[in-house]
Amino acid sequence: MTIGIFDSGMGGLTVLSEAIRRIPMEDYYFVADTLHVPYGTKSKEEVHGYILDTVHDMMKHDIDALVIACNTATSIAVETLREEYPNLPIIGMEPAVKPAVEMNHSTGRRVLVFATPLTLSLPKYYALVSRVDDSGIVDSLPMEKLVPFCESMKYDTDEVKEYFLEQLAPFDLEDYGIIVLGCTHYPYFKPLLREILPSHIDIVDGSTGTVRRLAALLHRYGMARGKGSGKVVFHNTNEDKIYNERMKDALTYLQHNQL
Ligand code: DGL
Repeated sequence: MTIGIFDSGMGGLTVLSEAIRRIPMEDYYFVADTLHVPYGTKSKEEVHGYILDTVHDMMKHDIDALVIACNTATSIAVETLREEYPNLPIIGMEPAVKPAVEMNHSTGRRVLVFATPLTLSLPKYYALVSRVDDSGIVDSLPMEKLVPFCESMKYDTDEVKEYFLEQLAPFDLEDYGIIVLGCTHYPYFKPLLREILPSHIDIVDGSTGTVRRLAALLHRYGMARGKGSGKVVFHNTNEDKIYNERMKDALTYLQHNQL
């Protein structure tokens, strides 16, 4: 079986890494829409078209399941994709606000969500927060420069550190117990964040939950055959061979640092 995983760029590799760890005996087809990255600072309509084009192409490669390894793309197109492909198991992502609120409950501290400007501007995000945040403890912070930093493999330079410090300056971090990484590009910055943040702040992202749901869905559909080998075919919409090599390096970096 081939599991298709898709993102605008390197971010989806954080989900792929967790998928290979948890479901090693299937094969993967990973696609980055590098022609249009970043999604999170573009309009909803524009990004909707890019997602459909990319997934239509992926379907030509006989994928058996699809993971939208992108919070922004899920908010915009998961419903359309499920309508178009009713027989394809499709797993989307949303910022892990619910588990963060639950985990943080007993601390009396607040939750801070980092995501792209587009994700945070959509009604789906407001609906999610109002569903799970009864006591009004969730704050949101758009981090528009992180995807470009990540795409240029700048995970812990002085420039990135300054950007984080600047963005976090208005917040009293003593008030916060947990930070949610609501974009799949953000786990690359975890080592730097660990350095910057006070040690009482936990950091959560959505890849573990997403891959758990993927495994459960494959099981439910009776699809998990375990006859693959964890082989990954990388593709990007620019058809840039060097970018494919960079994705392999980035995956190794994630695996090595257990991100
Ligand atoms: N990785 C995507 C996400 O999870 C967003 C990246 C982008 O802005 O292109 O939201």
